[in-house]
Amino acid sequence: KSVAVVVVAAGRGERAGSAGDTVPKQYRSVGGQAILARTVEAFVSQPNVSWVLPVIHPEHEQRYAALGLGGDERLLAPVHGGSTRQGSVLAGLKALAPLKPDLVLIQDAARPFVPAALIESVIYSLGAAQGALPTLPVTDTIKRSLDGAEVVGTEDRRLLHAAQTPQGFRFGQIFSAHMRAASVRREFTDDAEIAEWAGLRVVMVPGHRDNIKITHPDDFARAERIISGDTR
Ligand code: CTP
Ligand code: MG
Repeated sequence: KSVAVVVVAAGRGERAGSAGDTVPKQYRSVGGQAILARTVEAFVSQPNVSWVLPVIHPEHEQRYAALGLGGDERLLAPVHGGSTRQGSVLAGLKALAPLKPDLVLIQDAARPFVPAALIESVIYSLGAAQGALPTLPVTDTIKRSLDGAEVVGTEDRRLLHAAQTPQGFRFGQIFSAHMRAASVRREFTDDAEIAEWAGLRVVMVPGHRDNIKITHPDDFARAERIISGDTR
């Protein structure tokens, strides 16, 4: 089965940086390598991946070129994303459609530490399921509030799982689900939610604690710690 990967990198990274002139998080280096380069490399180095497609912000063309990626024919030329993550994923899926991949993995550029074994287990799970994503058990106690002040309940933590990427699907199914999702007035938080909404059967695989999404400024220090404890 052919596997394509969409790496969504078209965000502005606002929560990770304060000033408007700072380098967007996916182009910042950790351990001497840009986050986006790390994420792309994690997939290009997978023997069972046929294509990796970065989706970038139109204003980041030069930043992308400066990464000096390429050299592997499986790394496709980047396409431009949209104003939402959902729009950026759809732009990637549209660009991949002519290649007719069997499976597609959708990955946040901001998760540079995706382990190879996790990628493999997502792909493996698609043998039986229509969607697969890595999750971690929620460890905090989760309170429910309607007004942000008064507690109206406590969630049953055993039922809750925190989602990561890559999220994998059969290409044709997630493409048509995404096309339909784009035509309704609703914002979906991840691709698995779109799959669930479309009635696809989505399963979880064990995520990894190092598979963090760089989101806030202190996540860069956390990333450096992950790299220094790393044997790769
Ligand atoms: N993303 C994208 N297109 C968008 C918004 C987000 O491709 N319009 C990508 C980001 O580049 C990131 C991933 O989706 O790799 C997850 O999004 P998030 O962590 O929220 O990144 P940003 O949207 O860039 O950050 P922020 O929300 O803090 O501005
Ligand atoms: Mg965002």
